[in-house]
Amino acid sequence: MVTFYKTEQTYQSGSKTLAGDYYTSPDIFAAETERIFSRRWFCAGHASRIPRAGDYFSLEAFGESILLVRGEQAKVHAWYNVCRHRGTRLCEQSEGRFGKSIQCPYHAWTYALDGRLIGAPLMKDADGFDKADFPLPPVSMRLWEGFIFLNLSESPRPFEADFAPLLGKFADWNLPLLEPAGRAVYDVAANWKFIFENYNECYHCPPAHPQLAKISPSNSGGNDLVEGPVLGGFMLIEGADSLTLSGNACALPVGDLKPEDHRRVYYYSIFPNMLLSLHPDYVMFHTVTPVSPERSRITCEWLFHPQAFGRPGFNPQDGMDFWDMTNKQDWRVCELSQKGVRSRVYRPSPYSPRETLPAAFDRYYLGVLGA
Ligand code: FES
Ligand SMILES: [Fe+2]
Repeated sequence: MVTFYKTEQTYQSGSKTLAGDYYTSPDIFAAETERIFSRRWFCAGHASRIPRAGDYFSLEAFGESILLVRGEQAKVHAWYNVCRHRGTRLCEQSEGRFGKSIQCPYHAWTYALDGRLIGAPLMKDADGFDKADFPLPPVSMRLWEGFIFLNLSESPRPFEADFAPLLGKFADWNLPLLEPAGRAVYDVAANWKFIFENYNECYHCPPAHPQLAKISPSNSGGNDLVEGPVLGGFMLIEGADSLTLSGNACALPVGDLKPEDHRRVYYYSIFPNMLLSLHPDYVMFHTVTPVSPERSRITCEWLFHPQAFGRPGFNPQDGMDFWDMTNKQDWRVCELSQKGVRSRVYRPSPYSPRETLPAAFDRYYLGVLGA
């Protein structure tokens, strides 16, 4: 039995916002890159983005370029986008499809779709050279419910250490089988933590999101994960069937949901880069990539039941447009916050009893950063 708390019930008196340096300082950003993004598991996307053997996309993040490739037998691989010969960037495109192999544009070393080096012109004359010693450099990878998680550490912490609260939690939503209908990429002039803090409260919803607040009252629902790397809970849908511009459901239910879950949207922030929003008829997820202390690249993708595609009434744009509007409303207030915290007069200020999750996010973040 899951217990949900009203945000006010988990209020800790004295909670305050972070100091301005956390949103602007290059030194803190460097510490975050080393202690958080180079050590923690982060989400790279959903495996449905690369359905066929040879399909790939690349990810530019935390000073690295990483290739995600669908190999034979449906296996997903993650490699550094770095040739084993002279380090050349293997692939310049952000997505596409390889043939049966991956060839470096420089001297044509060629790798199979499982990462083995299978061609290295003239190298048989090099002393002791053995192709088996030069596979593509792997990135630690785990699939969770169809989502691809990566870890850049040489000895990654156990996936379960951070993800225990999530394991088995969303079985009803069919996550591994869902398929994408669209993706949006946003360049936002705000620190990545503003995006998380904003996602984790709906105190801002009536002023910032009039359309959302109308069909999902800002203090409806409650939170079940209120401390730690995963934070969130649900909000109710009222006077509409889903969060869409029309208010109608835009697709088949994503899975075999419990009756109450047809009226709920679940929102979870997953430290350090994923926001997962489960609607009855679609699943939306954001990945947040810090680019600099004051800039973030945010990818938003929408997933649907595979049998929804092509059915009468399937209108994914209705849900995607609703959230594109709502996303932009969020990015705007995050960008305004970014501008304001640079001021000499900004000081940490009290969080409201409706902002207990942003306060919990900050506590967890500070713990991981070791501050
Ligand atoms: S650098 Fe890739 S083949 Fe030479
Ligand atoms: Fe918002």
